[in-house]
Amino acid sequence: MTNRKKINEFSSKRQKGIYETPYRTVKHMIQLVAPFFDDGIKILDPAVGDGVFIHALLESGIDPSAIFAHDIDELCIEPLKKLGINAECKDTLLDEYPKMDIIIGNPPFKSRRNNIYMKKHQRELEKKYGFVGLYNLYSLFVVNAIRHLKNEGVLCFIIEDAFLTNRYYYRFRKFLLENCKILEIILAPWRLFHGSNADVRTAIIALQKRKGTSPFKKMPLKEEKKHKIRLVDRLANENEYRNPPRVQSVPQIEFHQMPDLKFFVGVPKSIIRLVQNHSTSFGDIAKGGTGISTGNDHKYLRLTEEVKNNPDWVGFYKSGKRTPYYYRTPYYIEKNYQKNVVADPKNFLVRNEQFYFREGITCSSVGRRFSAAYLPSGNLFGVNANFFFDNKEDLFFCLGFLNSKLVQYLARKVINRSNIIATSFLKEIPFISPNVVQRAEVVAIVKKIVKSLQMNPKYCFDTEAEKIDKIIFDVYRISEKVREEILEFCANIMDMA
Ligand SMILES: C[S@@+](CC[C@H](N)C(=O)[O-])C[C@H]1O[C@@H](n2cnc3c(N)ncnc32)[C@H](O)[C@@H]1O
Repeated sequence: MTNRKKINEFSSKRQKGIYETPYRTVKHMIQLVAPFFDDGIKILDPAVGDGVFIHALLESGIDPSAIFAHDIDELCIEPLKKLGINAECKDTLLDEYPKMDIIIGNPPFKSRRNNIYMKKHQRELEKKYGFVGLYNLYSLFVVNAIRHLKNEGVLCFIIEDAFLTNRYYYRFRKFLLENCKILEIILAPWRLFHGSNADVRTAIIALQKRKGTSPFKKMPLKEEKKHKIRLVDRLANENEYRNPPRVQSVPQIEFHQMPDLKFFVGVPKSIIRLVQNHSTSFGDIAKGGTGISTGNDHKYLRLTEEVKNNPDWVGFYKSGKRTPYYYRTPYYIEKNYQKNVVADPKNFLVRNEQFYFREGITCSSVGRRFSAAYLPSGNLFGVNANFFFDNKEDLFFCLGFLNSKLVQYLARKVINRSNIIATSFLKEIPFISPNVVQRAEVVAIVKKIVKSLQMNPKYCFDTEAEKIDKIIFDVYRISEKVREEILEFCANIMDMA
């Protein structure tokens, strides 16, 4: 019987493709920690599930007495006891257990939203993990594991990759940087957990707890400069673990120098320097943000055909994946929005009223691809990002800028890896002013695209978009090689993000 077949028999959940780590990924993670195997070591899987890591550890020759396994679910533990390992039904996050040499596994990814466990244990969790923020179970499992590692002990987990750039995880990243040598980060193949049907992107992280870290001492700067992290960019499939196409070796100190201590993977040095050292951000030249949250779109919005040019209703530009540069919104909202605020103050919320009915830029808020469109005056906007400028030239230049491949790359690969685009992420994008000629060229091209789309929504603007990309690359002095990398990323964003 093949290994895969054998593993598939462990659990019915696995057969449905839910939750559990694919076997080849498990094998690769074991290879990452194998150099630290030694006589007398203790290895723990703290969220063992169907025991895929345990079976792979046993197969690799580890003595059962060296292996420890926890799960909160008694049903997972019972069958594992027969293997002669130390399997115990435990709440890893709250129960005590001895220090380990190696901790490996796939902890649960469950955000705090509708999380019954987190609600039930809020007080205890806050006390133990509140300093990194209670956003998702996986980050608490990482903190717990680091605390339970012996000095120079090693952790290898597969977790959601949101922790790399998301601002909620700033304190978590700080904790990692201050307490560990990060050995390796691999952006795992994005279809790995697709049996569970969500677009869950994951990363494998291997790290070593620093010597004398208790009670959490900082690593001396000199050592930080010497220690290099192996960074493996998004893999296409599990075959690529063996020979990954895009690998970097980067001193850990580079992560300290990123805004919000963002962890980058697969980003060229020149782009890293741009993000680390820029003096102006897009937020310094664009104002704006979110607008109206109706609390009930069904109640407050109408479709074009329903309002039939009624002047009491205006266009409503809300979040969603839309055409770049220009589109006609299918939604309408009552111009006298204030009356809804008065009638339903708890749910009908308004922000940034000073920009209502103004001409500006409206951005998509979800989806791997991000786009920005012209927002004609006289309309209202929703909880997506919207930007406003002091003059039309700035508006049209920034519309071209936001839709450029460079911004797509910065937004998706460096600033925030998730598929949500918030105003704050876009405001972080480094901004370099164009010269007069470059600015005038972009403005003219963008005006032409918008006008053409107003007359013909199917207008193809590929050639114009390419010209804008080139000008923006020139403004940022991006080398030919890096341009190619950016274009490749943008063309394959689903696979590479
Ligand atoms: C994503 S599954 C991982 C299963 C398996 N390790 C794998 O990689 O295929 C996560 C497991 O964590 C367990 N779990 C959730 N919360 C836990 C807690 N507080 N303590 C211990 N185990 C927990 C769940 O019961 C589930 O079996």
